[in-house]
Amino acid sequence: MAKISPSILASDLSRLYDQVSMVRNADLLHIDVMDGHFVPNITFGLPIMNALKPIDFCPPLDVHLMITNPSDYVESFAKAGASILAVHVEVEPHLHSLITRIQDLGVKAFVSFNPHTPVSALEEIIHFVDGVLVMTVNPGYSGQSFIPKVAEKIKKLDELRKENNLDFEISVDGGVNLDNAVELVNNGVDILIMGTTVFKSKEPQEIIRKGQKIHR
Ligand code: DX5
Ligand code: ZN
Repeated sequence: MAKISPSILASDLSRLYDQVSMVRNADLLHIDVMDGHFVPNITFGLPIMNALKPIDFCPPLDVHLMITNPSDYVESFAKAGASILAVHVEVEPHLHSLITRIQDLGVKAFVSFNPHTPVSALEEIIHFVDGVLVMTVNPGYSGQSFIPKVAEKIKKLDELRKENNLDFEISVDGGVNLDNAVELVNNGVDILIMGTTVFKSKEPQEIIRKGQKIHR
């Protein structure tokens, strides 16, 4: 069964509490942290996570760090309640050490990679991670179109996972909807991150339920 992680970047942030309530049946809640350096947009970070903390029905936080210096912040994000911390392979020269630090904090460590970055860039690190977040748009904004060619990388990752007897999860992020989700899950995806599809829907809970029923 696929896990669903709605991305609050596509939600109505003026009503954050209500928006979280609308997706309370989700498996995770995706938090897109952007710094205006690694990506051409600035979003939100620790204060929003701290605001979500007392909401007892809030799904576990799936935090996607699109920042140039993740190493400076992992302790703070762990403290603010992250269940998953995804860091980009493009910005971190000491990825193995950072992954270990995240795990030592009791948080699941994911690596993420941009559309132009090949799967081969992850070949060594996949032995150590809890998950891989595949970007199927150029990071920066919600509501962009899914790039089908990039999604082919998921099959390669799934093959590597099987060949090496690994059990890391694969999540996919960017332009995911209930139509492309079926093939994505068939190709190896475990976690479907969905911003627009969930939050711009009139029935977010129903979209989540339908997504959760997709299985290999
Ligand atoms: C893009 C973000 C995504 C985005 C997904 O940089 O990492 O998580 O919010 O939004 P949709 O599902 O609308 O493409
Ligand atoms: Zn994201």
